[in-house]
Amino acid sequence: MVNEERRKFLGICLGGVTASAAIAVGYPVYRYLAPLQKENAGSKVVIPEQEVPAGGAKFFEYAGSTAVLVRRQGGELLALSAVCTHLGCIVQWLKEKEEFLCPCHAGHYSPEGVVISGPPPKPLARLPFVVANGAITIG
Ligand code: FES
Repeated sequence: MVNEERRKFLGICLGGVTASAAIAVGYPVYRYLAPLQKENAGSKVVIPEQEVPAGGAKFFEYAGSTAVLVRRQGGELLALSAVCTHLGCIVQWLKEKEEFLCPCHAGHYSPEGVVISGPPPKPLARLPFVVANGAITIG
């Protein structure tokens, strides 16, 4: 009778330890594998218009990743993901050439995010934005 109760108690303890170990190992693995975009999905970023002068670019964090606003010399404004579509490096803005360069494998993109040369298979993703009262709202 005492042995049976002891076995039951040990079984409950072992089950609790096993469940705790599974959570301790499984949760970090889940967090690592879960896409970053879901963390900030639906959030908006507001940037003052004067921070993006003609010919300039403004990099910022958006939806758990890096994005960029570009204003062409003619005044056209664009919002793009700054993540290269080849292997995910962050592109750089070459003001004098008015194009993006990916430093990892020399991929070149136009200010609209279209691939000019190099290995990127797709254009940079465009992001929705609105301009109102001197502010650019992305998302
Ligand atoms: S990661 Fe950008 S060109 Fe390879």
